Amino acid sequence: SAGKNGYPFYMEKEIMEQPEAIENTIKNRIVGGMPDFTADGVPDTLFTECEHICIVACGTAMHAGLVAQALVKSILHMHIEVQMASEFMYSDPVIDEKTLVIAVSQSGETIDTLEAVKYAKNRGAKCLAIINVKGSSIARESDYVLYTNAGPEIAVASTKAYTTQLAVFYLIVARMAHSRGVFDDAQTQSFVRELQRTPEVMKKVLERRRDIHVVAKKVLGAKDLFMIGRGLDYSILLEGSLKLKEVSYIHSEAYASGELKHGPIALITQDTPVVATVTQEKLMSKELSNIKEVKSRGADVVVFIKESIVGDLAKEYEIFTLPDMQDEFMVLPASVALQLLAYYVSSDKGFDVDKPRNLAKVVTVE
Ligand code: G6P
Repeated sequence: SAGKNGYPFYMEKEIMEQPEAIENTIKNRIVGGMPDFTADGVPDTLFTECEHICIVACGTAMHAGLVAQALVKSILHMHIEVQMASEFMYSDPVIDEKTLVIAVSQSGETIDTLEAVKYAKNRGAKCLAIINVKGSSIARESDYVLYTNAGPEIAVASTKAYTTQLAVFYLIVARMAHSRGVFDDAQTQSFVRELQRTPEVMKKVLERRRDIHVVAKKVLGAKDLFMIGRGLDYSILLEGSLKLKEVSYIHSEAYASGELKHGPIALITQDTPVVATVTQEKLMSKELSNIKEVKSRGADVVVFIKESIVGDLAKEYEIFTLPDMQDEFMVLPASVALQLLAYYVSSDKGFDVDKPRNLAKVVTVE
């Protein structure tokens, strides 16, 4: 499976593999409709005895942590922080034996994340790692491991590793909510059922990839671009923006749309490309008003929006509709769409998509 399977680049192959990768991540961890980590040897006490959570990771894996942070806050109402592993040790982290540290890493070899795990363990924290590469250093150093089972990821820009990390986080949140008495059986099963829809929903985005290719052509010539959204949409865009930067060399900045008026709106002029995601119903009206603001300053706006809330927005904006999931799962179809956007921009520009300049797949220097 390490060959390109007829695709010009590994990145495209790996984007297309995501429905199957998610299936492989979740299938053996759902028993009787409930999330189950028995086969992974992860006990419920890990989830019931902790008082707070700290996620450590770098790059794309850190962005998966940001999505988890939002879920943990809204569903579990627990204290949680996400730390860039490279900053962790120098930020006097408040870690003790009541902290559950979750390290996230595709390779399991990123030195900053490995050092953060060692530091946290020294302070008595329990460490759970979410890793793709079996037997890697972080997997060995951690107390418990949940492998993402995404298969080898060769392209430098991470795609299927990210969405499978998210899938593991959804399972963790469900298991944790159940074991802490936040979700009853029915709520847990319904959350898991929604996660199980992911492969089918992702396939719907992948089937319409040509429409995203058309959108990509609009931003080919851009030097700078903004991505705007609130709440989970902002987390989605941090990753979407990193993806675009990595492979297309376009300076792309993700901004929480409510913050636009505190600075970046000064940079929005005629034809500045702006990508917005609108996937959270409760934030929709505020997001749309921010989108209107940038449009009125001449921005060239593309909106990735949840299908059921699109209304007649297509009359005013270039739209890509995302197949519906419950709001907290919309990150999954939205991320696939933004990965495709980055991919098409890079390949249309004739770049070596899989090997962006200056970047390495595995970073073992601090
Ligand atoms: C490098 C890769 C990124 C990745 C980051 C963290 O910068 O190019 O794609 O997100 O390292 O890697 P890890 O293996 O720890 O997930």
